[in-house]
Amino acid sequence: MTNRLVFASMNDAVLQAKRHLPHMVFDFIEGAAGLETAAGENKAAFANIKLQPRILQDVATRSLNKNLLGESYALPFGISPMGMCNLIHPRADRLIADAGCKRNIPVCLSTAGSTSIEGFSHWAGDNAERTAWFQLYVQTPEIAMDMVERAEKSGYHTLVLTLDVPQVSRRVRDIRNGFEIPFRIGPRQFIDFAMHPTWSISRLLNGIPRPINFELSGDGKPFDRNAQRTGADLEFLRQLRERWKCNLIIKGVMSADDALLLQSEGVDGIWVSNHGGRQLDAAPPAISALPKIRTALGPDYPIIFDSGIRSGEDVIKAIALGADFVMLGRAILFALGAKGARGLDCLIDNFSADINTVLAQIGCASVEELDASILVRSAK
Ligand SMILES: Cc1cc2nc3c(=O)[nH]c(=O)nc-3n(C[C@H](O)[C@H](O)[C@H](O)COP(=O)(O)O)c2cc1C
Repeated sequence: MTNRLVFASMNDAVLQAKRHLPHMVFDFIEGAAGLETAAGENKAAFANIKLQPRILQDVATRSLNKNLLGESYALPFGISPMGMCNLIHPRADRLIADAGCKRNIPVCLSTAGSTSIEGFSHWAGDNAERTAWFQLYVQTPEIAMDMVERAEKSGYHTLVLTLDVPQVSRRVRDIRNGFEIPFRIGPRQFIDFAMHPTWSISRLLNGIPRPINFELSGDGKPFDRNAQRTGADLEFLRQLRERWKCNLIIKGVMSADDALLLQSEGVDGIWVSNHGGRQLDAAPPAISALPKIRTALGPDYPIIFDSGIRSGEDVIKAIALGADFVMLGRAILFALGAKGARGLDCLIDNFSADINTVLAQIGCASVEELDASILVRSAK
């Protein structure tokens, strides 16, 4: 592992990405809604959760395997859907799909990704059913259902419907930087790019990515980032449940009442997330919603978690608080922005090593055994 080490910590990766990427691309990753309070509190909340050190336990052999939705994954974490990853690195989507296969972890293509639904599952090859997931945004039910059909034909078994973006929030950094999708290059962006020649040359050679899936579905119009995504109402959810027979997961759940409704509508799992603080700035830290939702849904209902995860220790905390599985968002993009393929590899190695070490410290031999008993009482 040492020869692949390109950064030792998340903070190092962030600093490297900041140096390498144009200002507006880095801000697109790191930025959040409004005053960015929710994004900051997502991370701060993890620092306040404490784990109980234990001794004299049998931890000589430790397992990071985790089961989810009938599949056995090699690690307890995967990769969240993120639009326009190829802005950060020209082969980001490809590297993510490959990481899914190589590491046996789930990785999720976003509707707003710049790789086609078909292309992403093709890269996953024989692993597509297990490791390649597809995330759906609904601008109109017709376009969404067309994408669902494409996902079905492409062999996906897990569909993630994101519901916490009825309208994209005001992200101040993007507004200030003139960041738009599809990408526009004015004088301000030109200067920013000129100051980051390595990134800019690779974009010139590989082209500017664009969210291609909207052009391939429905009426073929390009993606409008600011258009409403309110087409996903309860009626749509019921139609989708009827239509999609494989795993259906709902992403962006922060309320126990919403979670109970989704459970009663027959979805296969929910994804607790506040979109990394990129939507409602006044939202509570996502991790604070997790235990309440777990209690409401009962011990066996599949729950995925993201928002604010920056270390393997955070992964362990989220599982202890009720998650079956944890997904990484910005952490992945910082790693890709820092060092491309080597960065992504290093990040997954660092998280895995962190989890392995922490398991030993807390006297646990397997991530499957983690529960609230590993938390220090006052911090629960
Ligand atoms: C640049 C970027 C783009 C994103 N695009 C999407 C998207 O297209 N669909 C979606 O469901 N979530 C999207 N998200 C949210 C992530 O899936 C995830 O919920 C969030 O990043 C988790 O928080 P974290 O970054 O603090 O780990 C995006 C996040 C980022 C940082």
